[in-house]
Amino acid sequence: MALEVIILAAGKGTRMKSVKPKVLHELAGKSLVARVVEIAKSLNPSKVHLVYGHGGEQIIAAFDGQPLNLIEQAEQKGTGHAVAQVLPDIDPDNEILILYGDVPLIDSETLNRLTEKASSGFSLLTVDLPSPDGYGRIVRDTDEKVVAIVEHKDASFAQLAITEVNTGVMCVSGACLRRWLPLLSSENSQGEYYLTDIVAMAESEDICIETEQPKETFEVEGINDRLQLSRMERVFQIKQAEKLMAQGVTLMDPARFDLRGTLSAGTDSTIDINVVIEGEVTLGSNIRIGPNCVIRNSSIGDGVEILANSLIEDSKVSNDCIIGPYARLRPGSELKSNVKVGNFVEIKKSTLEVGSKVNHLSYIGDATVGEHANIGAGTITCNYDGVNKFQTEIGAGAFIGSNTSLIAPVKIGKNATTGAGSAISKDVSDENLAIARGKQRNIDTWQRPVKKT
Ligand code: UD1
Ligand code: MG
Repeated sequence: MALEVIILAAGKGTRMKSVKPKVLHELAGKSLVARVVEIAKSLNPSKVHLVYGHGGEQIIAAFDGQPLNLIEQAEQKGTGHAVAQVLPDIDPDNEILILYGDVPLIDSETLNRLTEKASSGFSLLTVDLPSPDGYGRIVRDTDEKVVAIVEHKDASFAQLAITEVNTGVMCVSGACLRRWLPLLSSENSQGEYYLTDIVAMAESEDICIETEQPKETFEVEGINDRLQLSRMERVFQIKQAEKLMAQGVTLMDPARFDLRGTLSAGTDSTIDINVVIEGEVTLGSNIRIGPNCVIRNSSIGDGVEILANSLIEDSKVSNDCIIGPYARLRPGSELKSNVKVGNFVEIKKSTLEVGSKVNHLSYIGDATVGEHANIGAGTITCNYDGVNKFQTEIGAGAFIGSNTSLIAPVKIGKNATTGAGSAISKDVSDENLAIARGKQRNIDTWQRPVKKT
Protein backbone atom coordinates (compact mmCIF):
# COMPACT_ATOMS: atom_id res chain seq x y z
CA MET A 1 0.00 0.00 0.00
CA ALA A 2 1.23 3.46 -0.85
CA LEU A 3 1.06 6.29 1.64
CA GLU A 4 -0.65 9.68 1.34
CA VAL A 5 -0.35 12.40 3.94
CA ILE A 6 -3.01 14.94 4.86
CA ILE A 7 -1.80 17.95 6.83
CA LEU A 8 -4.52 19.89 8.63
CA ALA A 9 -3.75 23.59 8.78
CA ALA A 10 -7.02 25.46 8.36
CA GLY A 11 -7.35 26.66 11.95
CA LYS A 12 -7.05 30.39 12.57
CA GLY A 13 -4.63 30.42 15.44
CA THR A 14 -6.40 33.29 17.19
CA ARG A 15 -4.06 33.16 20.17
CA MET A 16 -1.08 34.10 18.00
CA LYS A 17 -2.64 37.58 17.62
CA SER A 18 -1.20 37.86 14.14
CA VAL A 19 -2.24 38.74 10.60
CA LYS A 20 -0.12 35.78 9.53
CA PRO A 21 -1.75 32.34 9.76
CA LYS A 22 -0.39 30.48 12.77
CA VAL A 23 1.27 27.73 10.74
CA LEU A 24 3.41 30.28 8.88
CA HIS A 25 5.09 31.41 12.08
CA GLU A 26 8.65 30.14 12.18
CA LEU A 27 10.48 27.70 14.37
CA ALA A 28 14.25 27.74 13.91
CA GLY A 29 13.96 29.77 10.73
CA LYS A 30 11.35 27.65 8.98
CA SER A 31 7.57 27.89 9.13
CA LEU A 32 5.74 25.35 11.29
CA VAL A 33 3.84 23.94 8.33
CA ALA A 34 6.94 23.83 6.10
CA ARG A 35 8.53 21.65 8.78
CA VAL A 36 5.54 19.32 8.76
CA VAL A 37 5.56 19.17 4.95
CA GLU A 38 9.26 18.30 5.05
CA ILE A 39 8.69 15.52 7.58
CA ALA A 40 5.77 14.22 5.50
CA LYS A 41 7.95 14.13 2.38
CA SER A 42 10.67 12.23 4.21
CA LEU A 43 8.21 9.30 4.41
CA ASN A 44 8.14 9.06 0.60
CA PRO A 45 4.38 9.40 0.25
CA SER A 46 2.70 9.29 -3.15
CA LYS A 47 0.90 12.56 -2.33
CA VAL A 48 0.89 15.27 0.32
CA HIS A 49 -2.38 17.18 0.79
CA LEU A 50 -2.48 20.40 2.77
CA VAL A 51 -5.82 21.63 4.06
CA TYR A 52 -5.73 25.40 4.53
CA GLY A 53 -8.32 27.98 5.51
CA HIS A 54 -7.33 31.20 7.21
CA GLY A 55 -4.72 33.29 5.40
CA GLY A 56 -5.16 31.20 2.26
CA GLU A 57 -3.28 33.56 -0.04
CA GLN A 58 -0.26 33.57 2.25
CA ILE A 59 -0.24 29.77 2.43
CA ILE A 60 -0.55 29.45 -1.34
CA ALA A 61 2.31 31.93 -1.80
CA ALA A 62 4.48 30.07 0.72
CA PHE A 63 4.18 26.80 -1.20
CA ASP A 64 4.17 28.26 -4.70
CA GLY A 65 5.44 25.74 -7.22
CA GLN A 66 5.85 22.90 -4.75
CA PRO A 67 4.35 19.46 -5.45
CA LEU A 68 1.62 19.76 -2.83
CA ASN A 69 -2.12 19.29 -3.15
CA LEU A 70 -3.51 22.47 -1.56
CA ILE A 71 -7.14 22.10 -0.57
CA GLU A 72 -9.22 24.91 0.84
CA GLN A 73 -11.54 24.34 3.77
CA ALA A 74 -13.50 27.56 3.47
CA GLU A 75 -15.28 27.18 6.81
CA GLN A 76 -13.72 25.40 9.77
CA LYS A 77 -16.28 22.88 10.85
CA GLY A 78 -13.97 20.47 12.63
CA THR A 79 -11.14 18.04 11.97
CA GLY A 80 -13.49 15.48 10.37
CA HIS A 81 -14.84 18.11 8.01
CA ALA A 82 -11.26 19.17 7.18
CA VAL A 83 -10.22 15.63 6.19
CA ALA A 84 -13.46 15.21 4.24
CA GLN A 85 -12.39 18.05 1.91
CA VAL A 86 -9.60 15.80 0.65
CA LEU A 87 -11.76 12.69 0.13
CA PRO A 88 -12.24 13.18 -3.64
CA ASP A 89 -8.45 13.29 -4.08
CA ILE A 90 -7.39 10.23 -2.08
CA ASP A 91 -6.93 6.74 -3.42
CA PRO A 92 -8.98 4.22 -1.39
CA ASP A 93 -6.20 1.67 -1.83
CA ASN A 94 -3.71 3.90 0.00
CA GLU A 95 -2.96 4.41 3.66
CA ILE A 96 -3.68 7.96 4.76
CA LEU A 97 -1.54 9.57 7.45
CA ILE A 98 -3.05 12.60 9.15
CA LEU A 99 -0.76 15.26 10.60
CA TYR A 100 -1.34 18.74 12.06
CA GLY A 101 0.36 21.79 10.56
CA ASP A 102 0.91 23.25 14.04
CA VAL A 103 2.70 20.19 15.46
CA PRO A 104 6.15 20.78 13.98
CA LEU A 105 8.48 18.42 15.81
CA ILE A 106 6.89 15.07 15.11
CA ASP A 107 9.64 12.55 14.41
CA SER A 108 9.68 10.58 11.17
CA GLU A 109 10.76 7.45 13.10
CA THR A 110 7.61 7.70 15.21
CA LEU A 111 5.53 8.07 12.06
CA ASN A 112 7.22 5.07 10.47
CA ARG A 113 6.33 2.97 13.50
CA LEU A 114 2.75 4.25 13.32
CA THR A 115 2.28 3.56 9.60
CA GLU A 116 3.72 0.06 9.99
CA LYS A 117 0.96 -0.64 12.50
CA ALA A 118 -1.79 0.53 10.16
CA SER A 119 -2.00 -2.70 8.18
CA SER A 120 -5.16 -3.54 10.16
CA GLY A 121 -6.70 -0.40 8.65
CA PHE A 122 -6.28 2.00 11.55
CA SER A 123 -3.46 3.08 13.85
CA LEU A 124 -3.46 5.92 16.33
CA LEU A 125 -0.68 7.90 17.96
CA THR A 126 -1.49 8.43 21.62
CA VAL A 127 0.45 9.87 24.52
CA ASP A 128 0.19 9.81 28.30
CA LEU A 129 -0.09 13.25 29.79
CA PRO A 130 -0.16 13.89 33.54
CA SER A 131 -2.43 16.89 32.87
CA PRO A 132 -4.53 15.92 29.87
CA ASP A 133 -6.73 19.03 29.89
CA GLY A 134 -8.19 19.94 26.51
CA TYR A 135 -7.24 16.70 24.78
CA GLY A 136 -9.47 13.93 23.47
CA ARG A 137 -9.33 10.95 25.87
CA ILE A 138 -8.59 7.43 24.62
CA VAL A 139 -11.30 5.10 25.90
CA ARG A 140 -10.31 1.43 26.12
CA ASP A 141 -12.43 -1.58 27.11
CA THR A 142 -11.47 -4.17 29.71
CA ASP A 143 -9.28 -5.93 27.09
CA GLU A 144 -7.35 -2.69 26.54
CA LYS A 145 -8.95 -2.36 23.10
CA VAL A 146 -9.47 1.22 21.92
CA VAL A 147 -13.21 1.76 21.58
CA ALA A 148 -13.61 5.53 21.35
CA ILE A 149 -12.07 8.96 21.62
CA VAL A 150 -14.06 11.36 23.73
CA GLU A 151 -13.30 15.06 23.42
CA HIS A 152 -12.55 16.87 26.68
CA LYS A 153 -15.69 18.98 26.40
CA ASP A 154 -17.85 15.90 25.89
CA ALA A 155 -16.17 13.67 28.47
CA SER A 156 -17.82 12.30 31.60
CA PHE A 157 -16.23 12.85 34.97
CA ALA A 158 -14.74 9.34 34.86
CA GLN A 159 -13.41 9.82 31.32
CA LEU A 160 -11.73 13.09 32.31
CA ALA A 161 -9.49 11.05 34.61
CA ILE A 162 -8.02 9.15 31.64
CA THR A 163 -4.46 10.32 30.99
CA GLU A 164 -3.94 8.59 27.64
CA VAL A 165 -4.87 11.18 25.03
CA ASN A 166 -5.26 11.56 21.30
CA THR A 167 -2.36 13.36 19.62
CA GLY A 168 -4.46 13.82 16.49
CA VAL A 169 -1.94 11.88 14.40
CA MET A 170 -3.42 8.75 12.88
CA CYS A 171 -3.06 6.45 9.93
CA VAL A 172 -6.24 5.10 8.33
CA SER A 173 -6.93 3.26 5.09
CA GLY A 174 -8.37 5.44 2.33
CA ALA A 175 -11.28 3.04 1.93
CA CYS A 176 -12.25 3.40 5.61
CA LEU A 177 -12.10 7.19 5.45
CA ARG A 178 -14.36 7.13 2.37
CA ARG A 179 -16.82 4.94 4.24
CA TRP A 180 -16.79 6.72 7.59
CA LEU A 181 -16.38 10.46 7.01
CA PRO A 182 -19.80 10.96 5.35
CA LEU A 183 -21.35 9.41 8.46
CA LEU A 184 -19.93 11.98 10.92
CA SER A 185 -22.39 14.16 12.75
CA SER A 186 -21.86 17.50 14.45
CA GLU A 187 -24.11 16.72 17.38
CA ASN A 188 -21.66 17.37 20.16
CA SER A 189 -20.82 20.15 22.58
CA GLN A 190 -18.78 22.07 19.97
CA GLY A 191 -21.10 21.51 17.02
CA GLU A 192 -18.12 20.24 14.99
CA TYR A 193 -17.50 17.23 12.79
CA TYR A 194 -14.99 15.36 14.92
CA LEU A 195 -12.50 13.21 13.04
CA THR A 196 -12.09 11.30 16.28
CA ASP A 197 -15.60 9.84 15.95
CA ILE A 198 -14.28 7.43 13.30
CA VAL A 199 -12.71 5.47 16.16
CA ALA A 200 -16.11 4.36 17.39
CA MET A 201 -17.06 3.50 13.78
CA ALA A 202 -13.98 1.29 13.44
CA GLU A 203 -14.90 -0.38 16.71
CA SER A 204 -18.45 -1.07 15.46
CA GLU A 205 -16.94 -2.76 12.38
CA ASP A 206 -14.61 -4.77 14.58
CA ILE A 207 -11.53 -3.17 13.05
CA CYS A 208 -8.75 -3.37 15.58
CA ILE A 209 -7.10 -0.02 16.26
CA GLU A 210 -3.40 -0.30 16.99
CA THR A 211 -1.74 2.41 19.02
CA GLU A 212 1.78 3.76 19.07
CA GLN A 213 3.50 6.34 21.25
CA PRO A 214 6.07 9.02 20.45
CA LYS A 215 9.50 8.66 22.05
CA GLU A 216 9.23 12.12 23.56
CA THR A 217 6.19 14.22 24.39
CA PHE A 218 7.39 17.36 22.58
CA GLU A 219 6.97 15.50 19.29
CA VAL A 220 3.20 15.74 19.58
CA GLU A 221 2.95 19.17 21.17
CA GLY A 222 0.97 21.71 19.18
CA ILE A 223 1.66 25.43 19.12
CA ASN A 224 -1.16 27.84 19.88
CA ASP A 225 0.54 31.01 21.06
CA ARG A 226 3.88 32.77 21.01
CA LEU A 227 4.86 31.50 24.44
CA GLN A 228 4.49 27.88 23.31
CA LEU A 229 6.34 28.75 20.12
CA SER A 230 9.27 30.12 22.10
CA ARG A 231 9.33 27.05 24.36
CA MET A 232 9.32 24.69 21.38
CA GLU A 233 12.09 26.73 19.79
CA ARG A 234 14.23 26.12 22.90
CA VAL A 235 13.41 22.41 22.94
CA PHE A 236 14.44 22.16 19.31
CA GLN A 237 17.58 24.25 19.75
CA ILE A 238 18.75 22.16 22.69
CA LYS A 239 18.21 18.97 20.64
CA GLN A 240 20.30 20.40 17.80
CA ALA A 241 22.97 21.55 20.22
CA GLU A 242 23.15 18.09 21.77
CA LYS A 243 23.59 16.52 18.33
CA LEU A 244 26.37 18.95 17.50
CA MET A 245 28.21 18.28 20.76
CA ALA A 246 27.90 14.53 20.14
CA GLN A 247 29.62 15.13 16.79
CA GLY A 248 32.61 16.72 18.53
CA VAL A 249 31.85 20.44 18.61
CA THR A 250 32.22 22.31 21.91
CA LEU A 251 29.43 24.73 22.71
CA MET A 252 30.30 27.08 25.55
CA ASP A 253 26.61 27.15 26.47
CA PRO A 254 24.14 25.01 24.52
CA ALA A 255 21.32 27.20 25.85
CA ARG A 256 22.83 30.18 24.06
CA PHE A 257 23.33 28.67 20.62
CA ASP A 258 20.90 28.96 17.73
CA LEU A 259 20.91 26.99 14.52
CA ARG A 260 18.28 28.08 12.01
CA GLY A 261 19.12 25.84 9.12
CA THR A 262 21.59 23.03 8.60
CA LEU A 263 25.11 22.86 9.90
CA SER A 264 27.68 20.27 9.01
CA ALA A 265 30.74 20.44 11.21
CA GLY A 266 34.07 18.70 11.68
CA THR A 267 35.52 18.09 15.11
CA ASP A 268 37.21 20.10 17.84
CA SER A 269 35.68 23.45 17.02
CA THR A 270 34.55 25.73 19.82
CA ILE A 271 31.53 27.96 19.56
CA ASP A 272 31.13 30.68 22.17
CA ILE A 273 27.82 32.06 23.41
CA ASN A 274 25.12 33.76 21.32
CA VAL A 275 26.30 32.46 17.99
CA VAL A 276 23.55 32.23 15.37
CA ILE A 277 23.97 29.94 12.38
CA GLU A 278 21.49 30.38 9.52
CA GLY A 279 20.81 28.61 6.23
CA GLU A 280 23.35 26.09 4.98
CA VAL A 281 26.63 26.35 6.84
CA THR A 282 29.68 24.10 6.69
CA LEU A 283 32.35 24.28 9.37
CA GLY A 284 35.67 22.46 9.11
CA SER A 285 37.62 21.36 12.18
CA ASN A 286 39.50 23.27 14.89
CA ILE A 287 37.56 26.46 14.35
CA ARG A 288 37.02 29.02 17.08
CA ILE A 289 33.97 31.21 16.89
CA GLY A 290 33.78 34.04 19.42
CA PRO A 291 30.65 35.34 21.11
CA ASN A 292 27.82 37.07 19.21
CA CYS A 293 28.73 35.99 15.69
CA VAL A 294 26.25 35.33 12.90
CA ILE A 295 27.17 32.94 10.09
CA ARG A 296 24.73 32.53 7.21
CA ASN A 297 24.99 30.30 4.14
CA SER A 298 28.77 30.08 4.28
CA SER A 299 31.59 27.59 4.49
CA ILE A 300 34.43 28.00 6.95
CA GLY A 301 37.69 26.07 6.61
CA ASP A 302 39.82 24.31 9.21
CA GLY A 303 41.61 26.31 11.86
CA VAL A 304 39.74 29.54 11.20
CA GLU A 305 39.32 31.98 14.06
CA ILE A 306 36.25 34.21 14.01
CA LEU A 307 36.45 36.78 16.78
CA ALA A 308 33.53 38.32 18.64
CA ASN A 309 30.69 40.18 16.94
CA SER A 310 31.46 39.22 13.36
CA LEU A 311 28.89 38.62 10.63
CA ILE A 312 29.60 36.31 7.69
CA GLU A 313 27.05 35.90 4.91
CA ASP A 314 27.13 33.91 1.63
CA SER A 315 30.90 33.69 1.83
CA LYS A 316 33.67 31.15 1.61
CA VAL A 317 36.50 31.23 4.11
CA SER A 318 39.47 28.90 3.61
CA ASN A 319 41.75 27.39 6.23
CA ASP A 320 43.52 29.33 8.97
CA CYS A 321 41.99 32.75 8.35
CA ILE A 322 41.47 35.17 11.21
CA ILE A 323 38.35 37.32 11.07
CA GLY A 324 37.14 40.10 13.37
CA PRO A 325 36.33 41.17 15.96
CA TYR A 326 33.51 43.26 14.44
CA ALA A 327 34.16 42.17 10.85
CA ARG A 328 31.49 41.83 8.21
CA LEU A 329 31.79 39.56 5.18
CA ARG A 330 28.92 40.31 2.83
CA PRO A 331 27.70 38.02 0.03
CA GLY A 332 30.27 36.91 -2.50
CA SER A 333 33.34 37.25 -0.30
CA GLU A 334 36.02 34.62 -0.65
CA LEU A 335 39.00 34.46 1.65
CA LYS A 336 41.76 32.08 0.61
CA SER A 337 43.89 30.51 3.33
CA ASN A 338 45.72 32.56 5.97
CA VAL A 339 43.86 35.78 5.22
CA LYS A 340 43.34 38.30 8.01
CA VAL A 341 40.30 40.55 8.10
CA GLY A 342 40.35 42.70 11.19
CA ASN A 343 38.07 44.95 13.18
CA PHE A 344 35.51 47.18 11.49
CA VAL A 345 36.33 45.80 8.06
CA GLU A 346 33.59 45.19 5.51
CA ILE A 347 34.23 42.93 2.53
CA LYS A 348 31.73 42.54 -0.31
CA LYS A 349 31.91 40.43 -3.50
CA SER A 350 35.69 40.28 -3.32
CA THR A 351 38.38 37.65 -3.39
CA LEU A 352 41.32 37.92 -1.02
CA GLU A 353 44.20 35.67 -2.03
CA VAL A 354 46.42 33.63 0.30
CA GLY A 355 48.01 35.54 3.15
CA SER A 356 46.56 38.95 2.33
CA LYS A 357 45.59 41.28 5.19
CA VAL A 358 42.96 43.94 5.72
CA ASN A 359 43.37 44.57 9.37
CA HIS A 360 41.51 47.74 10.28
CA LEU A 361 38.54 49.94 9.38
CA SER A 362 38.30 49.28 5.64
CA TYR A 363 35.76 48.70 2.92
CA ILE A 364 36.77 46.28 0.17
CA GLY A 365 33.99 45.82 -2.40
CA ASP A 366 34.06 44.40 -5.95
CA ALA A 367 37.77 43.77 -5.64
CA THR A 368 40.48 41.17 -5.97
CA VAL A 369 43.37 41.33 -3.56
CA GLY A 370 46.54 39.43 -4.53
CA GLU A 371 48.59 37.08 -2.35
CA HIS A 372 50.23 38.66 0.66
CA ALA A 373 49.00 42.15 -0.21
CA ASN A 374 48.62 44.41 2.81
CA ILE A 375 45.75 46.87 2.93
CA GLY A 376 46.36 49.71 5.37
CA ALA A 377 43.86 51.00 7.89
CA GLY A 378 41.00 53.06 6.54
CA THR A 379 41.40 51.98 2.91
CA ILE A 380 38.24 52.31 0.87
CA THR A 381 37.48 50.90 -2.56
CA CYS A 382 35.30 53.61 -4.11
CA ASN A 383 33.39 51.05 -6.18
CA TYR A 384 30.21 53.01 -6.86
CA ASP A 385 29.77 56.25 -8.74
CA GLY A 386 26.15 56.53 -7.74
CA VAL A 387 24.98 54.62 -10.80
CA ASN A 388 27.37 51.78 -11.63
CA LYS A 389 29.74 49.51 -9.73
CA PHE A 390 33.38 49.08 -10.78
CA GLN A 391 36.20 46.64 -10.01
CA THR A 392 39.42 47.21 -8.13
CA GLU A 393 42.39 44.90 -8.70
CA ILE A 394 45.19 44.85 -6.18
CA GLY A 395 48.27 42.84 -7.20
CA ALA A 396 50.17 40.30 -5.13
CA GLY A 397 52.46 41.81 -2.53
CA ALA A 398 51.00 45.31 -2.94
CA PHE A 399 51.14 47.64 0.04
CA ILE A 400 48.20 50.02 0.25
CA GLY A 401 48.98 52.92 2.56
CA SER A 402 46.52 53.84 5.27
CA ASN A 403 43.50 55.84 4.28
CA THR A 404 43.92 55.25 0.54
CA SER A 405 40.83 55.79 -1.61
CA LEU A 406 40.99 53.42 -4.56
CA ILE A 407 38.68 55.01 -7.14
CA ALA A 408 37.43 52.14 -9.29
CA PRO A 409 37.91 50.99 -11.93
CA VAL A 410 41.57 50.87 -10.97
CA LYS A 411 44.46 48.39 -10.94
CA ILE A 412 47.34 48.36 -8.50
CA GLY A 413 50.31 46.34 -9.79
CA LYS A 414 52.28 43.61 -8.08
CA ASN A 415 54.41 44.83 -5.19
CA ALA A 416 53.22 48.39 -5.87
CA THR A 417 52.80 50.83 -2.98
CA THR A 418 50.39 53.70 -2.42
CA GLY A 419 51.21 56.53 -0.07
CA ALA A 420 48.98 56.99 2.94
CA GLY A 421 46.05 59.29 2.31
CA SER A 422 46.20 58.94 -1.48
CA ALA A 423 43.17 59.13 -3.74
CA ILE A 424 44.20 56.72 -6.50
CA SER A 425 42.20 57.03 -9.73
CA LYS A 426 44.83 55.86 -12.25
CA ASP A 427 46.37 52.40 -12.57
CA VAL A 428 49.69 51.87 -10.78
CA SER A 429 52.39 49.72 -12.45
CA ASP A 430 54.15 46.81 -10.72
CA GLU A 431 56.72 47.84 -8.09
CA ASN A 432 55.81 51.59 -8.41
CA LEU A 433 55.00 53.96 -5.60
CA ALA A 434 51.93 56.13 -6.19
CA ILE A 435 51.27 59.21 -4.11
CA ALA A 436 48.18 61.28 -4.79
CA ARG A 437 47.68 63.74 -1.98
CA GLY A 438 48.23 67.44 -1.36
CA LYS A 439 51.88 68.30 -0.74
CA GLN A 440 52.60 69.34 2.84
CA ARG A 441 53.50 73.00 3.42
CA ASN A 442 54.85 74.17 6.76
CA ILE A 443 54.21 77.89 7.43
CA ASP A 444 56.60 79.34 9.96
CA THR A 445 54.98 82.84 10.03
CA TRP A 446 51.58 81.56 11.03
CA GLN A 447 49.93 83.07 14.12
CA ARG A 448 47.26 81.26 16.06
CA PRO A 449 44.08 83.36 16.36
CA VAL A 450 43.45 84.80 19.82
CA LYS A 451 40.12 85.25 21.55
CA LYS A 452 38.51 88.74 21.15
CA THR A 453 38.24 90.60 24.44
C1 UD1 B 1 -7.96 17.69 18.35
C2 UD1 B 1 -8.58 16.32 18.57
C3 UD1 B 1 -8.28 15.88 20.00
C4 UD1 B 1 -6.79 15.84 20.22
C5 UD1 B 1 -6.18 17.19 19.89
C6 UD1 B 1 -4.68 17.08 19.90
C7 UD1 B 1 -10.59 16.23 17.20
C8 UD1 B 1 -12.08 16.34 17.19
N1 UD1 B 1 -10.01 16.43 18.36
O1 UD1 B 1 -8.62 18.59 19.21
O2 UD1 B 1 -8.83 14.57 20.20
O3 UD1 B 1 -6.54 15.49 21.55
O4 UD1 B 1 -6.56 17.62 18.58
O5 UD1 B 1 -4.12 18.35 19.74
O6 UD1 B 1 -10.01 15.92 16.19
N2 UD1 B 1 -8.30 21.99 11.83
C9 UD1 B 1 -8.65 22.23 10.53
N3 UD1 B 1 -9.96 22.46 10.24
C10 UD1 B 1 -10.92 22.47 11.19
C11 UD1 B 1 -10.54 22.21 12.52
C12 UD1 B 1 -9.22 21.98 12.80
O7 UD1 B 1 -7.81 22.24 9.62
O8 UD1 B 1 -12.09 22.68 10.84
C13 UD1 B 1 -6.87 21.74 12.14
C14 UD1 B 1 -6.28 22.81 13.04
O9 UD1 B 1 -5.68 23.84 12.26
C15 UD1 B 1 -5.25 22.05 13.84
C16 UD1 B 1 -5.83 20.64 13.91
O10 UD1 B 1 -6.77 20.55 12.86
O11 UD1 B 1 -4.01 21.97 13.18
C17 UD1 B 1 -6.47 20.35 15.25
O12 UD1 B 1 -7.50 21.25 15.47
P1 UD1 B 1 -7.84 21.80 16.90
O13 UD1 B 1 -8.97 22.75 16.80
O14 UD1 B 1 -6.63 22.24 17.59
O15 UD1 B 1 -8.39 20.46 17.59
P2 UD1 B 1 -8.56 20.19 19.14
O16 UD1 B 1 -9.88 20.69 19.54
O17 UD1 B 1 -7.38 20.66 19.87
MG1 MG C 1 -5.68 21.85 19.45
